[in-house]
Amino acid sequence: MRRIVAVETGGPEVLQLVEEEIPEPGPGEVRVKVLTSGVAFGDLLWMSGVVPGSPKPPFSPGYDLVGLVDKLGEGVNGFEVGQRVAAFVKTGGYAEYSCWPQEELTPISDDLDPTTQICLTLNYVTAYVLINRIGKITSGGRILVHGAGGGMGTAMLDLARTMDIQAFGTASLAKHELVESLGGIPIDYRSEDFVEIVNREGGVDLVVDHMGGSHLARSFQCLRPGGTLVSTSSYAAALGQSGALETVGGLLRLQLWNVWPNQRSALLFDVVPFYKKNPGMYSLDLLALQELLAEEKINPVLDTTFPLEEGAKALEYLRDGKAKGKVVLVTEAYSSTFPGL
Ligand SMILES: NC(=O)c1ccc[n+]([C@@H]2O[C@H](COP(=O)([O-])OP(=O)(O)OC[C@H]3O[C@@H](n4cnc5c(N)ncnc54)[C@H](OP(=O)(O)O)[C@@H]3O)[C@@H](O)[C@H]2O)c1
Repeated sequence: MRRIVAVETGGPEVLQLVEEEIPEPGPGEVRVKVLTSGVAFGDLLWMSGVVPGSPKPPFSPGYDLVGLVDKLGEGVNGFEVGQRVAAFVKTGGYAEYSCWPQEELTPISDDLDPTTQICLTLNYVTAYVLINRIGKITSGGRILVHGAGGGMGTAMLDLARTMDIQAFGTASLAKHELVESLGGIPIDYRSEDFVEIVNREGGVDLVVDHMGGSHLARSFQCLRPGGTLVSTSSYAAALGQSGALETVGGLLRLQLWNVWPNQRSALLFDVVPFYKKNPGMYSLDLLALQELLAEEKINPVLDTTFPLEEGAKALEYLRDGKAKGKVVLVTEAYSSTFPGL
C-alpha cells in the first residue's frame, strides 16, 4: 500500500510517498481501506512544528478519512467488512489503508459521495461545535468568520446560513463571490478594515479567528456584549507571517480578556481535545450533519481533489491560499468504486 510521510519538520516539500505492507489490525482495531482523506491547514501546522505537542517526524498527516471496513481485529464487534465509516484521527489520514481502535470509527451512510462526506468530518463538526456549543448562537445571531473562502470558513458560512445566522466573512477578493453565494457578507481584509465594517453594523456575537497573534485583538474589538472570541489556530505563525513572541502574546491576551470584566469572553479552541473530553459526542454531531447533508440542508463546497500520491501538491495548493472550499485526497479505491465521479 501507499502512504504519504512527513520525513522531517517543514512544509509540503518534506512529504514522501512510501510503499509498505498493508498493516494488520490489532485486538480491538479495524482496518480501513481509505476512499478519501481531508487536506487541512492543520496538517501544515503539525508539519511546521510551531504548535506545542506536534508529532515528531516521520508521521503521516491527515486529520480525517472516509473509507470501507476492510478487516476486523480480534474482539471487534458492531462492524462489518465493506461498511462505510469515517474516522477523526488527527494524523495518519494520508494512506491507502490504516488501522484504528473501533471506538474511533463512526458508521456513515453508503448513499452519499465520500468526497462530500469528508468535508463534514473535520470542518463541519468544528463549525457545528463553535456555533452551537461554544458560541451558542441561534437564529438572528451574528458572527464573523475569518478565512471565509477556505475549507473551514465555507463550512461556518454554510451552517450559519441554514441556521438563519448572519455571517460576515473576511477573504481575499477572488473568494468574495463564493462568500456571497453562501449568504455571507464579504470583507476584503487586504483593503478594508473589518473592525470598522463589523462595528458599523453593530458588532457580532462570535468571532472565529484562525490567524492568531496580534490579529486576535482586532477580532476582540468586533464583539458586542455577551459575545465570544474563539482562537482556533496560529495560521500566521505557520506561514512565517508572525513570530513566536507575537503568537504567545496573543494567547496571553486571550486569558486576560476572559477574566477582565468586559461582558465578553475569549478562549482557545481545539476540536480534537474537545471531543476527547466528551466521549460519544463526535459521532452524534457527525450523524446530525450527515442527516443535514442527506436532506440537502447543507451543501459543502468541494474545491478540488488530488490523488493520494499528490499529497504534497495538495498541501502546496492549500498553503498558497488557492483553495476555494475543501481540498480532498482520493485513493485508487475511491476511483475504482466510484468511476463516474
Ligand atoms: N482549532 C480547531 O479545532 C480547528 C479545526 C479546523 C480548522 N482549524 C483552523 O482553521 C484554519 C483554516 O483551515 P482550513 O483547512 O480551512 O484552511 P484553508 O482552506 O487554507 O483556509 C484558510 C483561509 O484563510 C485565508 N486567509 C489568509 N490570510 C488571511 C487573513 N489575513 N485574513 C483572513 N483570511 C485569511 C486564506 O485565503 P485568502 O487569503 O485567499 O482569503 C484561506 O482561504 C486553519 O488555521 C486551521 O488550523 C482549527
